Amino acid sequence: MTGLFITLEGPEGAGKSTNREYLAERLRAAGIEVLLTREPGGTPLAERIRDVLLAPGDEVMDPDTELLLVFAARAQHLAGVIRPALARGAVVLCDRFTDSTYAYQGGGRGLSVERIATLEQFVQGELRPDLTLLFDLPVEEGLARASARGRLDRFELEGRAFFEAVRQAYLQRAKADPARYLLVDAAQSLPQVQQALDALLPKLLELHRG
Ligand SMILES: Nc1ncnc2c1ncn2[C@@H]1O[C@H](COP(=O)(O)OP(=O)(O)O)[C@@H](O)[C@H]1O
Ligand SMILES: [Mg+2]
Repeated sequence: MTGLFITLEGPEGAGKSTNREYLAERLRAAGIEVLLTREPGGTPLAERIRDVLLAPGDEVMDPDTELLLVFAARAQHLAGVIRPALARGAVVLCDRFTDSTYAYQGGGRGLSVERIATLEQFVQGELRPDLTLLFDLPVEEGLARASARGRLDRFELEGRAFFEAVRQAYLQRAKADPARYLLVDAAQSLPQVQQALDALLPKLLELHRG
């Protein structure tokens, strides 16, 4: 039995949390240990870094500060939660991971891919997700779903151009490595999205058996 590292990516409102729960139920029904977690965060200390990252404030956060905080939280999360879970053979379902860094700090903030890749290597070594579900959604639709939820965080307060750049960065990464990504059309109804996840299930079980 091998652990399996699955990440869920996409903008706010795309359905990551909803479908993470759905996938977890299906995998648990098959008798598999599933660990649900999220980024930034996933441990008490990393959640404190999350609070710093998401809280709107008067002082503008330098993009490099943002990038380093994201990876600081990730280092803690990997050491405390993700690596131990994978080592005991669990399926880890992680809501956002380093693709979010490429999309938000890279695409959105305009930091270079090289700089992000350097930190990725530093913090993760060779560890990459086995599979990434990219929930893709037109910007307007994502913003509508997110604002229906109420108070906006520091990222959600960004403008349309930021989210368009985030979306394009995600799509570009998926296109460059089609073996790792499953592109999910998140504008479909929830039952349709879940049908797509059901279709994926046999492959996940097979990957998990190793
Ligand atoms: N495919 C879908 N169609 C319509 N509404 C959806 C769909 N997926 C999720 N939602 C709704 O959109 C909102 C945001 O979903 P959520 O899973 O919290 O997204 P995320 O975690 O990606 O921000 C929730 O109210 C959820 O019920
Ligand atoms: Mg969510």
